[in-house]
Amino acid sequence: MSIVSRRELLIGGGAVVSAAAAGGLTAARATAPDLTLPIAPHRAAIMPGTVTEGMMSFADGGLPPVIRLQQGVTARIDVVNKLKEASIVHWHGLRVPNGMDGVPYLTQRPIEAGDSFRYELTSHDAGTYWYHPHCNTLEQMARGLTGVLVVEEAEPVGFDQDLPLNLRDFRLGRDGQFISLFKPRSAARGGTLGTISTVNWQEQPVYDLPAGSLTRLRLAVTDVTRVGTYDLVSGDTPLAMDDAKVIALDSNPLPIPIGASNILIAPGQRADVALRVPDREGEEVLLTRRTSKGPKVLARFRAVGPSAGRTLRELKPLPLNPIAEPDLANAEVIDFLFGWSPEGAPPVASICGTLGYTFWSINRVAWEGDTPDPIAPLAVMKKGKSYILRLRNETPNDHPIHLHGMTFRLLRSNKRQLPQLLTDTALLREGETMEVALVADNPGDWAFHCHVIEHQKTGLTGYLRVEA
Ligand code: C2O
Ligand code: CU
Ligand code: CU
Repeated sequence: MSIVSRRELLIGGGAVVSAAAAGGLTAARATAPDLTLPIAPHRAAIMPGTVTEGMMSFADGGLPPVIRLQQGVTARIDVVNKLKEASIVHWHGLRVPNGMDGVPYLTQRPIEAGDSFRYELTSHDAGTYWYHPHCNTLEQMARGLTGVLVVEEAEPVGFDQDLPLNLRDFRLGRDGQFISLFKPRSAARGGTLGTISTVNWQEQPVYDLPAGSLTRLRLAVTDVTRVGTYDLVSGDTPLAMDDAKVIALDSNPLPIPIGASNILIAPGQRADVALRVPDREGEEVLLTRRTSKGPKVLARFRAVGPSAGRTLRELKPLPLNPIAEPDLANAEVIDFLFGWSPEGAPPVASICGTLGYTFWSINRVAWEGDTPDPIAPLAVMKKGKSYILRLRNETPNDHPIHLHGMTFRLLRSNKRQLPQLLTDTALLREGETMEVALVADNPGDWAFHCHVIEHQKTGLTGYLRVEA
């Protein structure tokens, strides 16, 4: 059984449940959407005693909803742009047809102010995903436009609760108002960090959960910049494997679950944690992030009521997603070099905005901006063929490298042991070279970029073409 909260929208077999229309749309016409997703201006109390003006949300009130899809079931989502500027929505990690991927000019025209666009999404993969704009991306995400998207397994795996945690910062001053969304000198380095860390738009929320029950925590780092290391602890003790373990990363199950401490996740990445709530009423588990000053508490999970007495062993293993296994013996190797920009000419003006600087490049070419006439693809792949992408980071900064439309397998790194993992976003650490492999099975032009949005928007973007 999963709990669907007021802010969650459950989509399955054409049914929609939402705060506004609980049960009211199930008899909708065939052409009606399963979900209407506004992009709207917003104000909210993020810091106590203040109201932050100039926010944006995927809701007419409240934070962006958790969108829940059922594995293999098509959902029609009408995005309605109520902003005074163009936008577009990308479904991070979902392997959808190119026309539904939400990237300006590569896959569709931007959704202009006042316009709407219907996305039809079917995911054959289950797991934790998220959604965000891909137009004026830094500003729109920084102001609030990041939401969690869940694709539920066709067969439940046995949790009592399912709790998505949208992890992100806001750059607010003491009065709760936005300060400059980025600093150029930071954009040329690691990126500009936020000032307030939130979980589901709250500082240190407390979640009451039935004692001794099994909860699936879905950590999604939707922040524009922050690479973080997270721990689940009781007091200052890491939880034992019987109490918490990471069962999936970036929506794909780990073949062998790992302990829920030292979880390194970067912008764009996700971690699913199976948590056994403590038995004793009032006992707490904390989600913390490591900082130079010690652990910072982000959220608390508090046991309530008598113990349900469940154990993590009762969970079924997560089913594998149907992702094609690359043929490594016959794979072609493609090299990518992530580095500084060769000359730093400012980007071309566009309806989707620019930050006005060029600092970064892929293979010495800096992305010019989201224009109707994009530069050439970084690589052209043939549909059905296997490729090894060799990702080389020549900079002293971290770059979470994200590919749209396809999932790749981590092979090896020159710096560390990598988990056996299928993913859409690989964290390339400073000076690291990593090899990843995929089957080019989804035709189209697929954005390929760093998910530190200041890097993405100042050159570290390109795209890969898969020819049918
Ligand atoms: Cu989540 Cu192109 O991004
Ligand atoms: Cu994406
Ligand atoms: Cu980067």
